[in-house]
Amino acid sequence: MKILIDSADIKAIEKLYECFPVCGVTTNPSLLSKENKDPYEVLKRIRAFIGEDELHVESLCKRAEDIVDEALAITRILGDDTYVKIPVTAEGVKAIKRLRELGIKTTATAIFTLGQAYISALAGASYVAPYVNRIEMQGEDGTQTALNIQEALRASELECKVLAASFKRIDQVEMLIIKNIDAITLSPAMLSSLLDNDGTKAAIKDFDKAFKTLKRENMSITLDRH
Ligand code: E4P
Repeated sequence: MKILIDSADIKAIEKLYECFPVCGVTTNPSLLSKENKDPYEVLKRIRAFIGEDELHVESLCKRAEDIVDEALAITRILGDDTYVKIPVTAEGVKAIKRLRELGIKTTATAIFTLGQAYISALAGASYVAPYVNRIEMQGEDGTQTALNIQEALRASELECKVLAASFKRIDQVEMLIIKNIDAITLSPAMLSSLLDNDGTKAAIKDFDKAFKTLKRENMSITLDRH
C-alpha cells in the first residue's frame, strides 16, 4: 500500500518526508489556496523536493478540451510523474479518455460511487480517488465504497488503482489498511496521528523511569538519552 501526503505546505511535506515512508504528494485547489502564493511556484517547489515521486495536481477547467490543454501544461511544467486530477463529470471522463491516448497519467477525483470509479477506470484513469469522509457525510459507508471499488478493479483486467482520499478519522484509514487498499492520501495531521498513542508515550515514560534507577557504575556503556 502506498501512502501519499495530501498537502501543499512545503514545510510540512519536508518534515513528514524525513520520518514517514511516503511516496508522493496530492494537492487540490483548496490546499493550494491556503498557501497564498503563486500555485505553480508552490507546485514546482514540491516537485523539486520530492524528485520523481508521484505528484497529483487538479485541473480547474470544466470543458474536456480545456482540461486536456491544462493537463498538457501541468505535465510540461511539473514532469511526467505528475498525475492530473480530474473530477468525474462527463467532460472530465472525456478528457481522461483523450489524455490516456496522449500518454498523460490521470487521477479521477471526487469519486462518490462505484459507477463513477468504474467508468473512469475504463476510460483510462491511472487512479480513482474515492472521498471516504465526504461519502460518509452523505450518509453512505465511505470505507466500504472504497473497498467495493478496489474489489471491482482487481476483478477486472484494468490497470487502474484506488487512491482513497478525504479521511478524518484513524478508523477509516485502518479499515483500508486491513484490506490492503492500493494507496491512501492523508493530511499531515492525519498522517502524524497514525503514530500518536497515549499508551506508547506512557510506556516510554515508564521505561525511562525504570532505567534511571540503574547505577551508572553498573553500566559498561552509558547512553546519553535526551
Ligand atoms: C484528494 O486528493 C483530496 O485532495 C482530499 O483528500 C479531499 O479531502 P477533503 O474532504 O478533506 O477536502
